[in-house]
Amino acid sequence: MKKVVLSTLLLVSVSSADVPHKGVTALSAQTRSLLSQEMQHIEKGMKQIFSYMIRGDYESITPIANDIRDSFIFKKKLTKEQRLELKDKLPKEFIELDSSFHKLAGELANGSEFEEKDKVIKTFNQMSRKCIKCHSTYAKHRFFKE
Ligand code: HEC
Repeated sequence: MKKVVLSTLLLVSVSSADVPHKGVTALSAQTRSLLSQEMQHIEKGMKQIFSYMIRGDYESITPIANDIRDSFIFKKKLTKEQRLELKDKLPKEFIELDSSFHKLAGELANGSEFEEKDKVIKTFNQMSRKCIKCHSTYAKHRFFKE
């Protein structure tokens, strides 16, 4: 009997951990669509970078990595209201994760500019991990469904 109670408690605590995920789905259609566009844009860029990385074509990587760095949704395109909306509806950790992701893109650009193979591979991997970390935490309504 005790075991049953314990597992019920666990279930409850898991579902309350889901609360922050409502953040993204609570965004207005317009703001959410901007986020989607940013995501598609960075995915396309990451695929291109992978392709150039395995060819050792660093010159082609730099502008794409810089572009990902600058595609930071919070930096541009947003109206003041949308900016406030993001701050209001998304948890602080989400914004920090996004910001650290874009910072890594800058480091990748830097690595490719100086043709530093190991740095390019390392930052590419770190960036991929950020996609997964954020999706498995804040995009569970889309990916990593249990
Ligand atoms: C800080 C959080 C965060 C990071 C980092 C992140 N994503 Fe996302 N991504 C999201 C969220 C949240 C959604 C779901 C958006 C929604 O449901 O409207 C999403 C959705 C997407 C989508 C689907 C877009 C659509 O609506 O068609 C793609 C593709 C995507 N992400 C790719 C990536 C890739 C590739 C990376 C890493 C290189 C990445 N994301 C990093 C939060 C993030």
